[in-house]
Amino acid sequence: MTIAWNPGTREWHLGNARASWVLGVLDNGWVGLLHAGAPLAIGPSYRHLGPHDFTGFDNRTGEPVALALPSPGVGDFRVPALVVEGPDGSTVLDPQYAGHRITAGKPKLPGLLPATYVEDDAEADTLEIDLCDGPSGVTVTLALTLFRDQPVVARSMRVANGGSGRVVVRTAMSATLDLPDDDWRLVTLSGTWARERYPDDRALVPGRQGVSSVRGGSGNEHNPFLALRRPATTEAWGECWGIALAWSGNFLAEAEVGHFGTTRVRVGVNPEHFAWPLEPGESFATPEALLAWSDAGVGGMSDALHGLLRHRMARGAWRDRPRPVLLNNWEGTYFDFDHDRIVVMARAAKAMGMELFVLDDGWFGRRDDDNRSLGDWVVNERKLPHGIDGLAREVKALGLLFGLWIEPEMVNPDSDLFRAHPDWAIGVPGRKRTLSRNQLVLDFANPAVVDHIADAIGEVIASAPIDYVKWDWNRFITEPFSPTLPPDRQGEFFHRYTLGMYDLYERLTTRFPHVLFESCASGGARFDAGILAWAPQGWTSDDTDAVERLRIQWGTSLAYPLSSMGAHVSAVPNHQTGRVASLDFRAAVAMFGAFGYELDPTAMSDGDRAAVRRQVAFYTERRDLFQYGRFARLRSPFEGDGNETAWMVSADDGSRAVVAHYRVLFRPWPVYDRLLVRGLDPAARYAVTCWERFDAPMPTIERGGDELMSVGLGIEPPDPMPDGAFADGHRIVRGDFTARLFDLRRL
Ligand code: DGJ
Repeated sequence: MTIAWNPGTREWHLGNARASWVLGVLDNGWVGLLHAGAPLAIGPSYRHLGPHDFTGFDNRTGEPVALALPSPGVGDFRVPALVVEGPDGSTVLDPQYAGHRITAGKPKLPGLLPATYVEDDAEADTLEIDLCDGPSGVTVTLALTLFRDQPVVARSMRVANGGSGRVVVRTAMSATLDLPDDDWRLVTLSGTWARERYPDDRALVPGRQGVSSVRGGSGNEHNPFLALRRPATTEAWGECWGIALAWSGNFLAEAEVGHFGTTRVRVGVNPEHFAWPLEPGESFATPEALLAWSDAGVGGMSDALHGLLRHRMARGAWRDRPRPVLLNNWEGTYFDFDHDRIVVMARAAKAMGMELFVLDDGWFGRRDDDNRSLGDWVVNERKLPHGIDGLAREVKALGLLFGLWIEPEMVNPDSDLFRAHPDWAIGVPGRKRTLSRNQLVLDFANPAVVDHIADAIGEVIASAPIDYVKWDWNRFITEPFSPTLPPDRQGEFFHRYTLGMYDLYERLTTRFPHVLFESCASGGARFDAGILAWAPQGWTSDDTDAVERLRIQWGTSLAYPLSSMGAHVSAVPNHQTGRVASLDFRAAVAMFGAFGYELDPTAMSDGDRAAVRRQVAFYTERRDLFQYGRFARLRSPFEGDGNETAWMVSADDGSRAVVAHYRVLFRPWPVYDRLLVRGLDPAARYAVTCWERFDAPMPTIERGGDELMSVGLGIEPPDPMPDGAFADGHRIVRGDFTARLFDLRRL
């Protein structure tokens, strides 16, 4: 890996074995992006790939030029990366190259912005390019870090006011990416509550297209991620870009196709409802965006992002530790529990091999439903007479870890906190405050509020032997305003809210480094790259129906690793869909994630409890694969009639793998079918064992890695035999909602 600067050609080349970025100082002083993507030899000039003077504004380069920092008002009419309003009200900006630095490693981003990091300077190199707009004195530093082992560049920007008057930053993108053509399909992850992150895949069209949030959180409607793939790109082959923004607040992720058929991507904090004044000498830093390029298909792009998010965005003690199999009581009891009931559930969980009990919403204040008590973080002694401490100790004495739910950013109007500090809830004085789930959002742009909640929640966590915290966030922000900000700084509100939330995460994770934090927001409404810096796993969706989860987990996996996806088995009929799927099918889906259960084990039959014991044993025996293996998507639930899904995890060295094939509805007389497997050693032989139920694996067969990857693994032999008869190691399974897990071990 290297970052080379050629003073003769005035070009920088960031390159490793898997990707190259070439930038150059243009004749007019702008910094152009000459190439990004496929690895190119370092040394020659690539200036011919860059500016094409089609139109020639001011005798300069024309609009098709690919720029590292597009700015408004100087001849490029596409969307800008940076808009700064000067003291005279003008937004014209002409940033000229002013210098650069190349350093080993990766400097920390300012403040609490979540970002990737290195543990050794040899893991990455960083190029920082300074640009300056002479008349206004605005200076910009673009930071690009290329990782040694991944085809990924981390990009961010710092804007400083080097002039003598106040300026206002109105747009500051974390990254723009100018590509020389528009032959791409744009993939975004969109949906809603209980249907999060379905991939939306469409051809680019002229003009702007993309996704965003103005909800105060990244949201479940759209995700701060986009991919571009060539029309012919598949999961395993072809060019693909994936861009993830490490930010949990309002965002924008869009592509613009210009009239010469070029594509500009921009990703960053949403300029809507954003304005950040800078007095002389002040600066503003954007969050970081990760730009992954792959020629190994959409899967290659995901693989690159997964690796970084898992190991170099996630931090702390739980980054590499096996995540415990948990029982969460939410769908099992909702608000209706007490000490004894929880202990009985925990005992049953332990007997089934689970490792962590999580007490969800309802343990504090007078909270028997969602009408009251958010903000009052004191135990409800009627339900829990021995306190959290007494309960945690009893659960832990069973040999389980203990976890607790919190929703620290919220307050119910019916709470002591709200009665004492009504001005701490977000709202505009003189206007009505919109309720959602009977609650309001606390003003985390106000440091006094963050201080108070840090103390209150800190006291709870310190009061008991707590190992895990589920941090929920169950509504979006309306009436955005903070009385602590002057009128001309209200444009900072949303941004400061998110920084306040990060501040609380930072304080709690620093004070309680042994605690595993799981993020949650009405399911997956704040599931993004940024939050992983403090919470290495998140609750993927409130929808626990396994058929629905196939889609949700498939879509989520485009950007996020399995270790980050909380996935639970719940009771049937499913509470979100009413669907009744077999227990083994439900488990076979949830195992591809941070696995757990969310039901009342005391309501289960002995047979089901025995089945769960087997499932937990199956999972824990392969946990390193499920949580840290390479995930590959094989058959999409979004293709055809969506009846089939297949995916797999494999060890990096190809020594082990688990391949899963799911069928939603059974159709008689299934056609002959082989599934192409990935990530194996083609020269090796594998022992293949198929599990349709976790009580009885089929006889182990032997296959070559080459055969499994190029001819396939038998899913449906042309097998007219009745149930129970074997052919090629497999048999017909009748019935709906069936899963087969194939365990592959190199011999
Ligand atoms: C929403 C979460 O997604 C659920 O898992 C649960 O914790 C509830 N909130 C509790 O109110």
